[in-house]
Amino acid sequence: MPILSVSGLSFSIGDHQILKNISFDVDEGEVIGLIGPNGSGKTTLFNVLSGFLKPISGTVHLRGKDITRAIPSKRAQMGIGRVFQNFGIFREMTLEENVLVALESLSKDQRGELGDLKEVVKGTLEMAGLTQFAKQKAGSLSGGQMRLLEMSRTFKTGKDLFLLDEPTAGVSPKMTHQISDLITGLKKSGKTALVIEHDLPFIGKICDKVIVLDVGEIVLHGKPSEVQKSKELQEIYFGADPTT
Ligand SMILES: Nc1ncnc2c1ncn2[C@@H]1O[C@H](COP(=O)(O)OP(=O)(O)OP(=O)(O)O)[C@@H](O)[C@H]1O
Ligand SMILES: [Mg+2]
Repeated sequence: MPILSVSGLSFSIGDHQILKNISFDVDEGEVIGLIGPNGSGKTTLFNVLSGFLKPISGTVHLRGKDITRAIPSKRAQMGIGRVFQNFGIFREMTLEENVLVALESLSKDQRGELGDLKEVVKGTLEMAGLTQFAKQKAGSLSGGQMRLLEMSRTFKTGKDLFLLDEPTAGVSPKMTHQISDLITGLKKSGKTALVIEHDLPFIGKICDKVIVLDVGEIVLHGKPSEVQKSKELQEIYFGADPTT
């Protein structure tokens, strides 16, 4: 059974149809890239999957359970982790405290499953490569480091399906590398992720499959090597070739 099954999903604002009949399945342990031009509906799809927007038609199933009408916090409890960029990082708290508050917001059962919270905090900062800053205030981190902290913190909070919206936007090549290692590590531990990205080489490196959205519709779906070769992608993504 797929971990996530999306079927016939449509979303509109007024008479502007933003998502049109979106269907795809994600198997457990897969990393799926979601690409497409600006305004093609990628973030809106994440908003529908995490429950912040209600679709006008279609269904979303998580491990076979219909979650189409579940509220965001319920979906989070059921294992969907959304990484918001530099959102929810408390600048006046230390890095350790920032991880701890995220863990403390979990239910007693979820916390119990994680084991010793001190060890989880330590492991999270190691994962982010930020151990040396553990006692510093989060406000002293760079934007990219905050993103690593936010991602690692979400990855450690017992979720199993992650929605990452442009994790490498505006970060240096070195940090892009760290983020790619973080996602590869996540995959190795059997977790699943959907990653929105404009960086095609990055997508090629970390993803098993790629979905291409254009004007709210899935126009291509396949292995990164196949999708990257497609002439259609060239037209949609890079614009028409002026030599032809
Ligand atoms: N709250 C809203 N009200 C009106 N229109 C919206 C709203 N949210 C999104 N849209 C429209 O929906 C379309 C898709 O937007 P969305 O943010 O999902 O695109 P995207 O693929 O994530 O783009 P980008 O790559 O620039 O982040 C756009 O035309 C946008 O203007
Ligand atoms: Mg977007």
